Amino acid sequence: MSLPRDPTSRPSPLRPLTRRRFVAGSVAGLALTACGGGSSRSTDGALITPEPMPEPIPQPEPMPDTEVLGPMMPRGLHSSFMGDSHSSRTITWFTDGGDAPVSWLEFSSFDVGLDEFSIQDDAFEFSVEASTSETTGIDSFTHRASAVGIDPDRPLRYRVGSDEGGWSAVYVVMPSPRDEWSFIHFGDHGIGELPKLVTEEVMRTPADLLMLAGDLSYANGDQQIWDVWFEQMQPLLARRLTMAAPGNHEEKDFGGETFKNRFSHPPKPLTSSFGPNDPGSTFYSFDFNRVHFLVTTAGALIGDGTLPEELLNIEVDLANAAFRRLRGEIDFIIVMQHFTIWTDQLDRSPANFTLVALEENIFLRYGVDLVIVGHDHIYQRSAPMFLGLPNPLGYVQMMVGTGGASIRLLDDDGTQIWSEASFVGIGFAHYKVSKGKIKIDYIGAPPLDMSDAGREYSEGIFEIIDSVEINAKSLLACSQCAMPARGPEVLLQNFEAIAAHTHDRNRRAFRHCG
Ligand SMILES: [Fe+2]
Ligand SMILES: [Fe+2]
Repeated sequence: MSLPRDPTSRPSPLRPLTRRRFVAGSVAGLALTACGGGSSRSTDGALITPEPMPEPIPQPEPMPDTEVLGPMMPRGLHSSFMGDSHSSRTITWFTDGGDAPVSWLEFSSFDVGLDEFSIQDDAFEFSVEASTSETTGIDSFTHRASAVGIDPDRPLRYRVGSDEGGWSAVYVVMPSPRDEWSFIHFGDHGIGELPKLVTEEVMRTPADLLMLAGDLSYANGDQQIWDVWFEQMQPLLARRLTMAAPGNHEEKDFGGETFKNRFSHPPKPLTSSFGPNDPGSTFYSFDFNRVHFLVTTAGALIGDGTLPEELLNIEVDLANAAFRRLRGEIDFIIVMQHFTIWTDQLDRSPANFTLVALEENIFLRYGVDLVIVGHDHIYQRSAPMFLGLPNPLGYVQMMVGTGGASIRLLDDDGTQIWSEASFVGIGFAHYKVSKGKIKIDYIGAPPLDMSDAGREYSEGIFEIIDSVEINAKSLLACSQCAMPARGPEVLLQNFEAIAAHTHDRNRRAFRHCG
């Protein structure tokens, strides 16, 4: 709970009398490169003219408010929300050193137009004490704190830290727009040069929400890699609300415990609102305006024993969402997970049949509009499909495993009948949401060439490769998808086989460095 800050309750941090310093904007002034080409057709067949992306926003990187960076200086700041997507913000960060300082999130809403020095230097109106735990597998501490009940229509300025250990720079999270808004999605990132190109382009591309579809740092058990990833991502994640799904590489970090520790997400869908708020949920849902998002593990963390519970959660959550869509409360249902369902990546085509058995039936029953995934390191967009065949009542799969971990090739046999667009390279998908419509652009950069060596590099010249529009389902289609949730006697009747197949799939996923 946020409390008005009592200036007598604890001393103000020691601060130099000078203005805070800014690093000259590493991303300021860089314009999005050419926007052209690509297929451009809506899912109902109408031609679409690709729109140029909005102008980039200069984002100078502020410096921490301290001259000496001690071990307890906050690092790896990232923003998300565990409650309402408009009126709550959660900040998660890390500190080093033998002890964890009692840490705080300080914040204030402010009016657009406030000068940058006031944004950095003005006193904060509220502070809330962070909860702290040991960071999984490394001698550090994870802190998280939520600002709740904030003004949903004004930007939020905040910093985190402690008088004892030091304070972060002041960052700004913009309010979530209500009518037209956008989000970006990609998966399969990492810490090398290709991932950095993608991150820089994402920073240049305005969006209100970032959806990361798993295989995030590729730490593979080395927890210091996570620290590098969060450090590289802080200029982006400290400012942009981000939700993540665990991938098969997250499973290599203590079976997913690192993911649960280092991110803060909404609770599981079936969590009682009176129960403890578990920040480590790996499957969760939330509304962002008229879009309902469900994030699943797709069995990536099957070793933690929660997959049966997750399947029941998925069923109930999507059943509720389908009823809410019929009542006109939402327009779209989007599922994000790491694993693809259908794919044409070389060596993985044509499908992950375990997932089809596990999930596609549920997605189709409740009329999921979009399934946004990663895992396969290519871009591929499907037509609305059902069991691998185009079907106007089916879902569109957006496979965007092109965060830069590597660049893979399409299957030698070409693409399947459901495939409407594909691309070999790096990049991300940008979704512009308005009432009843989602305009999707895939923004990509090719590798130097298609050889194994050439695919390790890119000049980072991004352009719009593919565009499509998704329209909200008709009232008739919505009514057909408003079905009662099924119980464990149906969903889990073949769970032994599902679990065996999922274990086998996860083992095979690593053979191709998934
Ligand atoms: Fe993967
Ligand atoms: Fe991957």
